[in-house]
Amino acid sequence: MTLPSKYFYDQSGSELFDAICELDEYYPTRTEASIMRRNINEMVSAIGSANRLIEYGSGSSLKTRLLLEKMQKDVTYVPVDISGDYLETVAKRLRRDFPKRRIEPIAADFTLPFQLPHSDTPRNRDVVYFPGSTIGNFKPAFAATLLSQMRNQVGKGGGLLIGFDLQKDPAVLEAAYDDRRGVTALFNLNLLRHLNRVAGGDFDLEAYRHIAVYNDREHRIEMHLESCREQTVTLAGRTRTLEKSERILTELSHKYTVSGFTEMAAASGWKREEIWMDAKEYFAVGMFRS
Ligand code: AVI
Repeated sequence: MTLPSKYFYDQSGSELFDAICELDEYYPTRTEASIMRRNINEMVSAIGSANRLIEYGSGSSLKTRLLLEKMQKDVTYVPVDISGDYLETVAKRLRRDFPKRRIEPIAADFTLPFQLPHSDTPRNRDVVYFPGSTIGNFKPAFAATLLSQMRNQVGKGGGLLIGFDLQKDPAVLEAAYDDRRGVTALFNLNLLRHLNRVAGGDFDLEAYRHIAVYNDREHRIEMHLESCREQTVTLAGRTRTLEKSERILTELSHKYTVSGFTEMAAASGWKREEIWMDAKEYFAVGMFRS
């Protein structure tokens, strides 16, 4: 059985994800932030004359602030996020802190095609920003579809600034997704609580245990919930039985090599311009041009 990862992110799931980002074991957030801080001037010059920055899955737009501070004043920032209310709150704060920038939020599910706002101001160049290694949560075939969608949105000459997580010692990866304090376990179980609420589920949260394993062949972390006993569950009006130890797949998190990611991006029409990494080569931020 597989459950869709998008159900992680209700209010408590988003709070738990913020807590994950602070964990010692969860290196991606702080590593990406330090790559951004260290290389911000080079990144901004690679963005060049772009006067529209479109962020996929913008959330709190925290990392984007670094870019907005340094980019030219006439930039229009288009945060795209599925959560419309949160998007408006964040947009209000950004307008207060960056009064000279145009902020044009779009409430959309970026995994489906969506239209960018029509703009009256002449556009030099559009750049998509997709941080956080969220691209890794999609199977490579769908990740390539998303990269093509971005490519079509920005057109020829457009840019893509994207964060992706790199292959490394499986022990480091498994610890990042199965932390000692059990925050990731709570995050995983919260998906069941969310489904109980919005899809008429009757999952017994006590009867599942969190598992995170690295799949060497597919180069990805797989998160599961393992049934602690044989049990019957109803979800969206359908009932099914889970065996003891049967696993429900809840999330994939793919880890790339720089060359593998570059090839996938090239197949979607993107040429690599720059790659920035941390000293341990745990994480990469890449600038691509279409
Ligand atoms: C959002 N995404 C990039 C996270 C990841 O690392 O794949 C989600 C996550 N799942 C467990 N911990 C973090």
